[in-house]
Formats: sequence, structure tokens, C-alpha cells
Amino acid sequence: QSLLILWAVIGYLLGSIPFGMVLAKAMNLGNLREIGSGNIGATNVLRTGSKGAAAATLLLDGAKGAVAVLLARAVSGEDAAQLAALMAFLGHCYPVWLGFKGGKGVATFLGLMLALAWPVGLACCLTWLVTALIVRISSFAAIVAAASSTIWMFFLGQGKMVVLGFLLMLLIFWRHRANIVRLKAGTEPKIGQK
Ligand code: G3P
Repeated sequence: QSLLILWAVIGYLLGSIPFGMVLAKAMNLGNLREIGSGNIGATNVLRTGSKGAAAATLLLDGAKGAVAVLLARAVSGEDAAQLAALMAFLGHCYPVWLGFKGGKGVATFLGLMLALAWPVGLACCLTWLVTALIVRISSFAAIVAAASSTIWMFFLGQGKMVVLGFLLMLLIFWRHRANIVRLKAGTEPKIGQK
């Protein structure tokens, strides 16, 4: 029990590292809050013009989710891994260091999915990629990938993850509510556009 609490805390702390913000500051790319959507994720880092910083943000935000899962699983098993995954996601979206105003969780979601069950994670990544290549809108691809995740879990024999997947899907929808308003209005920018 106390180990589960420990994994919840470690998961949250790992997830709460705002890599986009850190990289943007370190590389003098400007204040992400004043750029594009104001978000701290890779999509908005790309709007600074730095593809390298955006790619690094994507990888590091994904890696922190994966590391939380792999550490928790190695020491305490599957339940701890799922709890660490949820808490890493919440840490990214609601980091104490940024007054609980964090990101939208997509890269972290993909990273933790890859670590929890790589076929599901890979299916979610491919869903994001194919949608993004067709529509060229990051938020739309994220919403489709999140919505598809529980379907992939079902088809890929990962029923034990469905409750977590459903919860993460709802959280991703919630974090994209401003994007959904823009998508409906037809004003959501394409990838790379300001
Ligand atoms: O990962 C976040 C992405 O889905 C949307 O980002 O900056 O366009 O709101 P942004």
C-alpha cells in the first residue's frame, strides 16, 4: 500500500517535469505562454521555429511517462505501473511547479502507452501519425489517437488497461477543450503554423 503511494508520488514528479518549458528557456526560444496556444508541449515548441527543440520535447515528455511505468513495474508490478502512468499524465497536465497549469498530455500518453503495452502504444502513435499526415492538425490527431486507444486495447488483448485508457481519453478530451472550440470554428492552426 505504502509502495503504491510512493509510485504515485514518483509518477507525478516525473510527469511534472515541463521539458518544453525548460528547453524553450535554455535555448532562448521565448516564453511558450506568449507563443501560439500558450501550451508547453511539443506542438507549441514547434511554433517557436525550432524543430530540434520540438522533437526533444516530444521525446522527453514521452520518455518521462515510459520511465514512470517501467520503474514502477520493475519494482512493484502491474498495478503500480498503471498508477504511475496515470500520475505521470496528471503531473504533466497539472505540474505543481507551474501553478498546476501544464500541458495536454499527448506525448506523455504515447510514452506511457508504449511502456504499458507496446502494441497498443504503437497503434496509438501510428493513429496519431496517420491522422496528422492527412489532416495536419496536431490536436485533432491527438483526439483521434486518444479515442482510438481503448479500441486498440480491446483488439490487442489488453482489456486490463481499458479503465485507465478510458480515463486518460476523457482527460485528453478535457485538456483539448479550447482546441475543440477552435476545431469547430475552423480556426485551429495546422502543424507548424502560428
Ligand atoms: O499535444 C498538444 C496538441 O495536441 C495540441 O497543442 O499547442 O496546438 O494546443 P496546441
